[in-house]
Amino acid sequence: MIYLDAFKRKKFVERACHDKKVKEMIDLIPTVISKDTQKAVINILECISRDIKVGRVIDNHEVKIYSRRMVEEITSNQNAMMYLEKIRKYDNYTFTHSVNVCLLSVLTGMDLNLPRQEIEELALGAILHDLGKILINESILKKTERLTKVEFEEVKHHPYNSYCIISKDSAIGEIPKLIAYQHHERYNSSGYPRKLYGNQISGYAVITALADVYDALTTDRIYRRGYLPYEATKIILSFSAEKFCPKITRAFIQNISIYPPGSLVKINTGDIGIVIKVNKKLILRPVVRLLLDSSNDSYKTVNDIDLSKELDYFIVGAVDMEIS
Ligand SMILES: [Fe+2]
Repeated sequence: MIYLDAFKRKKFVERACHDKKVKEMIDLIPTVISKDTQKAVINILECISRDIKVGRVIDNHEVKIYSRRMVEEITSNQNAMMYLEKIRKYDNYTFTHSVNVCLLSVLTGMDLNLPRQEIEELALGAILHDLGKILINESILKKTERLTKVEFEEVKHHPYNSYCIISKDSAIGEIPKLIAYQHHERYNSSGYPRKLYGNQISGYAVITALADVYDALTTDRIYRRGYLPYEATKIILSFSAEKFCPKITRAFIQNISIYPPGSLVKINTGDIGIVIKVNKKLILRPVVRLLLDSSNDSYKTVNDIDLSKELDYFIVGAVDMEIS
């Protein structure tokens, strides 16, 4: 990781944020899931949570329609970019998190060649996996300090809560229920609530667990800044052998954009640029628009470099600042 010093960073960000063309270009990057669908799923989850809180039986009809729509959009937009950051404009973490987890889970399921029917159930489970959190004391969920043992024990109930809520609907199949109940279980039995081990854990739950951990790591929280995709991938790889199935971890990692559009990167020449396009087959070699040369002077003309073609150039690291 490369850190710009405070002065250079300020100067740099001011410059990058004022570069309208760069911002417009990033905004034009098609997202895998349309903004309308993202918003609709978040709204539906908000309504469902209100119903759960007042003890009303929830209606999953709409959520099923939209989870299917998400699968349709993901499978038909394979050339679009996975772009989680954009969803985070909406400030309700739990619901935006569910949309992100769904996207990452579906991409992994596609990589594992799961049949369409299973991918649709995987999507539904990923959207509903954390619903049981609604029944956990809000002050615990919003707490920024370390949880006490008693508080953590309460949090550990949420997978079972989710399972119970989902199970009330007889039209929901087994896969979403397994995802809800097992998404915090880990291969080495270190998870919860039942400390399941290895193959006792459903593969669908492992897919959702990886997506869950990755999205949590890359999200900004009140108490810490989100890790960059490149750092989060390294963190997951550091414990994946003990905690997750290796085959599923490999499929998951293939869909992670190490340097997604909008990332600031340093090139081996010392220049700093912003990623404007990702080459899906060469994820470490995106197209980069150069912003600053090695003396920290900005480029006066547009200077794009396709690292998949210009093989003398390569990224030496991520810069710890992105355009917001
Ligand atoms: Fe959870």
